[in-house]
Amino acid sequence: MASVDCQESAATEAEIRSFFESAPPLKNSAEVGRNLDEFIARNSSPCGDGRANRVVCVTSGGTTVPLEQRCVRYIDNFSSGHRGASSTEYFLKSGYAVIFLYRRGTCQPFCQSIPDDPFLECFEFVDKSQAKVQEQHAIAVMRAINDHRAAVENGLLLKLPFTTIFEYLQMLQMIALSMNKLGPYGMFYLAAAVSDFFVPWQSMAEHKIQSGSGPLDMRLVQVPKMLAVLRKEWAPLAYCISFKLETDKKILLEKADMALAKYKMHVVVANELLTRKEEVVVVTHNEKISVFRDKSRNDSDVEDPLIQLLAGKHGTYLASLPKMK
Ligand code: PMT
Repeated sequence: MASVDCQESAATEAEIRSFFESAPPLKNSAEVGRNLDEFIARNSSPCGDGRANRVVCVTSGGTTVPLEQRCVRYIDNFSSGHRGASSTEYFLKSGYAVIFLYRRGTCQPFCQSIPDDPFLECFEFVDKSQAKVQEQHAIAVMRAINDHRAAVENGLLLKLPFTTIFEYLQMLQMIALSMNKLGPYGMFYLAAAVSDFFVPWQSMAEHKIQSGSGPLDMRLVQVPKMLAVLRKEWAPLAYCISFKLETDKKILLEKADMALAKYKMHVVVANELLTRKEEVVVVTHNEKISVFRDKSRNDSDVEDPLIQLLAGKHGTYLASLPKMK
């Protein structure tokens, strides 16, 4: 069996504080805060049985690490955003309200059946001033627009975009502190591919790095993992699901077990890069459940059975807690 590097050290409070203090402040933090407050208030009003609604924060897409303050170059983390977008649809179907924290330009909920470049591929001109959706795309486009609009207008879907690791972690913290009000009815589903190394803002070149001065010698420092602080301080009662991505199948489950124990996650979803659309393994303290896409259907995806399983586990978690007044 391959041995696994256990040296991933937990972030200290000082490292976390220093990350946030030195990060460039979010440009629209007042607006994000307002939208979050409204969304949480709306989705935490008691239902008939006196219970709050369930809200999940789905993170999706990869974070970037800028190399210059006036950024021309950056390091990127791979993620198409398919997992997050598709999971968002299934969470909505399962009765959750969703905060979709996503990388700008990645896959969006309800858009899976639409061509990659909808503007160019779906429309045709009727005359010089009017265009219409081509017949072969009409049903998919209409369904996407209607479902998306219904989710947003009914206050069940809040979409918050990020690009850099600085934006992502600041927004994740804001969301978690807001969702803390929901106690165990809040869930985190952390599918984003988050940078492990970054250039601290103060030591970053302001202007475009010049290529004339030879090879680039640059020191990247470790991004503090926020999973532990999310669990312990930001939203201690929320149900937390993180992902473990590896390219080497031999170390995947061992690494997932380590993440589960170290960050006190309720669930870690383990996936391998090449097979991630076909199979994932749901790892908890006492079981490992393989979840597969239904191969008998072309339009099926693995997120369908995955979200059903996770919503059920969240329900069991809620039922196991002492009744809240
Ligand atoms: O978007 P797709 O193309 O559909 O692909 C989906 C996916 C493969 C990106 C997704 O299923 C997935 O595995 N996402 C997590 C990828 C990842 O960053 O894995 P990791 O092993 O590096 O990190 C594990 C966990 O720690 C993640 O939940 C991440 O949110 C968190 N993390 C990572 C780094 C960091 N500095 N801080 C973190 O909190």
